[in-house]
Amino acid sequence: MKYIIGNQKNYLLNEDAKEFAKEYSKIKSKNKVIICPSFSYLPYFKKGIVGVQNVSSASDGPYTGELTSKQLSSQGIKYCIVGHSERRKKLKEKDSDINNKINELLKENIIPILCIGEDFNEKENKLTKTVLKKEIYGSLKKLSTDSVDKIIIAYEPIWAISDGTHPSAIPTNKEIEEIITFIKELIKKKFKINAKVLYGGSVNPNNVDELNKISVVDGYLIGGACKKISDFSSIIDKCE
Ligand code: PGA
Repeated sequence: MKYIIGNQKNYLLNEDAKEFAKEYSKIKSKNKVIICPSFSYLPYFKKGIVGVQNVSSASDGPYTGELTSKQLSSQGIKYCIVGHSERRKKLKEKDSDINNKINELLKENIIPILCIGEDFNEKENKLTKTVLKKEIYGSLKKLSTDSVDKIIIAYEPIWAISDGTHPSAIPTNKEIEEIITFIKELIKKKFKINAKVLYGGSVNPNNVDELNKISVVDGYLIGGACKKISDFSSIIDKCE
C-alpha cells in the first residue's frame, strides 16, 4: 500500500477548489489517498481522506490566526503536513517549532506528515545526509518509539520542488533509493521502527511510472500535480 498525498498549498481559488472536491469524492484506490487543501476549503470535501498543511505549535491560549490541533481534531482531521521547506525557509520555522507541532498533533491522534530535505547548495556541498540527520533528530526530539511509529516522513529535496506549474529537475531513482534507505536506516537505528518514507518533488503523471520502480519508496507527496484533479487521478491510477 502506498500513500499518495496531495499538498494543494495556496494554489486554488474558491470555485476551482469546489470543483476539485466534487471530483475527489469519486476517487477509488487501493492505496491511501489524502488531499491537503487550504483550511477554508475543508467543508467542500465531503468524501475521501482530507488532511491539512499546517497546525499551531501552541496547544491553547489566544493566538490570533492560528489553528490548534484540538480544533483540527474537532473537525475530524486525521493528517497534517509539518516542516514543509516553504515554511522552514520563508516563514523561518525551526526544528524545535516542528517538534512542538508534532507533539500537539500526536496528543490529538492526528498523523504528522514530516517533510525533510536539502537545498541545492547543501546537495552540491555533499551535506544532504547531514541536513537530513539534523532535521530528523531535531523534529523528533524526545519522542517515544510509539510516537515516531505513527509519523509519515516525506523526503523532499528542495531543489526538486516545482513552482506549481513547471516541474523541476528531480533526483535519479538511484539517488532517491540511496537517500530513502539512509532515512529508514537512521530511524531504525535510533527508534527501532520501520519508518514509512515518501518521496516529494515534481512528481507528476509523466514520471510516476519511473518512480514506481523504486521499491523502498512508500508513496508520494505531490504539490503542483494536485492542482488539477485530472493530473492527481492519473498519478493515483498509475500507482494501482
Ligand atoms: P511539487 O511540490 O510536487 O509541486 O514539486 C511538492 C511539495 O512541495 O510538497
